[in-house]
Amino acid sequence: MAMRTILFSLALLCISLVHGLNPKCETSDQGSTLQVFHVYSPCSPFRPSKPLSWEDSILQMQTEDQTRLQYLASLVARRSVVPIASGRQIIQSPTYIVRAKIGTPPQTLLLAMDTSNDAAWVPCTGCEGCSSTLFASAKSTTYKTLGCGAPQCKQVPNPTCGGSACSFNLTYGGSSIAANLSQDTVTLATDPIPGYTFGCIQKTTGNSVPPQGLLGLGRGSLSLLSQTQNLYQSTFSYCLPSFKSLNFSGSLRLGPVAQPKRIKYTPLLRNPRRSSLYYVNLQAIRVGRTIVNIPPSALAFNPTTGAGTIFDSGTVFTRLVAPAYNATRDEFRRRVKVPTVTSLGGFDTCYNVPIVAPTITFMFAGMNVTLPPDNILIHSTAGSTTCLAMAAAPDNVNSVLNVIANMQQQNHRLLFDVPNSRLGVARELCT
Ligand SMILES: *[C@@H]1O[C@H](CO)[C@@H](O)[C@H](O)[C@H]1NC(C)=O
Ligand SMILES: *[C@@H]1O[C@H](CO)[C@@H](O)[C@H](O)[C@H]1NC(C)=O
Ligand SMILES: *[C@@H]1O[C@H](CO)[C@@H](O)[C@H](O)[C@H]1NC(C)=O
Ligand SMILES: *[C@@H]1O[C@H](CO)[C@@H](O)[C@H](O)[C@H]1NC(C)=O
Ligand SMILES: *[C@@H]1O[C@H](CO)[C@@H](O)[C@H](O)[C@H]1NC(C)=O
Repeated sequence: MAMRTILFSLALLCISLVHGLNPKCETSDQGSTLQVFHVYSPCSPFRPSKPLSWEDSILQMQTEDQTRLQYLASLVARRSVVPIASGRQIIQSPTYIVRAKIGTPPQTLLLAMDTSNDAAWVPCTGCEGCSSTLFASAKSTTYKTLGCGAPQCKQVPNPTCGGSACSFNLTYGGSSIAANLSQDTVTLATDPIPGYTFGCIQKTTGNSVPPQGLLGLGRGSLSLLSQTQNLYQSTFSYCLPSFKSLNFSGSLRLGPVAQPKRIKYTPLLRNPRRSSLYYVNLQAIRVGRTIVNIPPSALAFNPTTGAGTIFDSGTVFTRLVAPAYNATRDEFRRRVKVPTVTSLGGFDTCYNVPIVAPTITFMFAGMNVTLPPDNILIHSTAGSTTCLAMAAAPDNVNSVLNVIANMQQQNHRLLFDVPNSRLGVARELCT
């Protein structure tokens, strides 16, 4: 645990504080489509200033995943629904970022995409403890703070009404955020969204609050989807570039226009206790042509316990509950047929010789998604080590959730069609 904390702090120290995107990357976003950058992309100001070694970057991503999984587990374990900002707990894994323009005249800020969060927040001028580009609310003629009487104030957890402003605090681990509930015009690509409600961060403490703002793509009230019903009709899709090709950007396409027509769908399931998460029905897993023997309880959706399977943009490596992971891993090892298996951090199936890996197919209700090797294996730069890039869910806390993570989503288009309650997946090379 201490080792993890040290690694995580080191990672934060290494984050450079250059503001905005690299100027070479400043091509403008068109229509309702935003470019999506990996946080380690040469375009990103949040990339480590010294490249991490392969092992270190894997360990770092695993550490961040561990924190995120605890956060997701805490969400599904909760008894009641708090609509904004995921209750008093927050975590953003800043894996993929987009640009947004806020205020009049517009100021450009970078926001992390997070499909399991409803909130939007940005670090604001005067913020104590924020390290990155700040939104200067005083320079915007359209900015206003929401008062305590505003209906939105009833949707934030533990609002305080010291002044007239509606303020609220969120905590995560040893960190906390204090923010004012605010409204301003937010422009995504070329779409202006007047009177958008978000948290203007005034103070952060602790070091686990990442420096960029947050664009929550969950589907609870006060989320982007809820606030842009008329414009985007709760429909969006994204294609995440592989972190092997950091020079590529992917895209976030908002609204029903220009979405793919030829795409396979699986129904979205609703968990009333955690309405923002995108649950699906994972029925089985195939390794090569073998359907692995997983006890049905490991995959079953249960709104009461929060058990089931979600798609999440903020977790890097897919986690399956232990019986599902073990069965998948054992079949994978059987097919690879290399007797010497090593481990790396949380990955328990690594090889130091070249391997021929079987495909892995997630069999969802109505949709099989067969992952090619690029979505399953992680290779060291030198090519000497290869790992199966999935792991068992942490068994400490409420381990009931299977999370289909972003490494397994890369170079696919994911279409979130909330009005028709379905999620589409199609192979696509994101460039
Ligand atoms: C945020 O709220 C606090 C407390 O009400 C107030 O002192 C501060 O000026 C507000 N900040 C902004 C930018 O409105
Ligand atoms: C929120 O945080 C601020 C600043 O850290 C603090 O003054 C205030 O008492 C906190 N409010 C609550 C409800 O915890
Ligand atoms: C990515 O871009 C940088 C400069 O922007 C260049 O130096 C580097 O060679 C590129 N890498 C790849 C893999 O294309
Ligand atoms: C899964 O496999 C690990 C060994 O890698 C073992 O320790 C654990 O008990 C297994 N869990 C289940 C539920 O099979
Ligand atoms: C998924 O693959 C299995 C065979 O492994 C097949 O029986 C099933 O019909 C497929 N499902 C869909 C929706 O194509």
